[in-house]
Amino acid sequence: MVGFSPHTRVIGWDSVPPAQRPPLVTLIHLSFNLMLGLGFFLFALAAWQGWWWWFHRRLLVTAWFLVPAALGGVAAVAAMEAGWVVTEVGRQPWIVYRVLLVSDAVTPASGVPVTLGVILALYAILTVVSIGVPMIMSRRWRQGAPAEEDAEQVPYGPSPNGAGASPAGPPAPPAVPRASSGGPEAP
Ligand code: HEM
Repeated sequence: MVGFSPHTRVIGWDSVPPAQRPPLVTLIHLSFNLMLGLGFFLFALAAWQGWWWWFHRRLLVTAWFLVPAALGGVAAVAAMEAGWVVTEVGRQPWIVYRVLLVSDAVTPASGVPVTLGVILALYAILTVVSIGVPMIMSRRWRQGAPAEEDAEQVPYGPSPNGAGASPAGPPAPPAVPRASSGGPEAP
């Protein structure tokens, strides 16, 4: 596929002196495969929904679509991390190709462990809060119905009749106009 010709010369691994080759080749290779696999998985999901919309003018609400779609968020982050591994590990040992080695660019600053520790602590707190707060809110919603005026402002909260969060699964999809013969929509 490279160059779209069987005569294209592909510059390969052996063109790089061994001392200048990145380590962990298998990691680079598997990360690239993971990124591609997840990318095609996400593309397939989008194509499935696109196809369904084109022919039925409706959102897919079957669990066969919703479960992979929910996992799609995690998959996109995983693909991003895998892509990052491909470039970061793949460019070793250079930080600037043929100009500066990573080993020559490492900072001699002594405060790095402290700032790293502060940032790790900060992000640990943010992680706990951003998972914990929605969990607490969800538990509160399940415990009781909100006052009627609140209920209007919480579309995913429990129903105002006090039944608590619907156990029947995800909320109904937004109403979507059905396919018509092309004329103006009925009111
Ligand atoms: C499915 C088809 C995909 C192909 C063919 C592809 C291809 C590539 C290639 C060739 C690179 C290396 C670029 C370089 O040499 O600097 C790369 C990097 C990257 N990819 Fe993908 N990718 C795909 C899907 C995805 C998806 C779905 C995501 C994330 C949602 C993603 C995120 C990234 C990231 C974050 C990098 C690193 C960019 C950088 O640090 O410069 N890729 N991808």
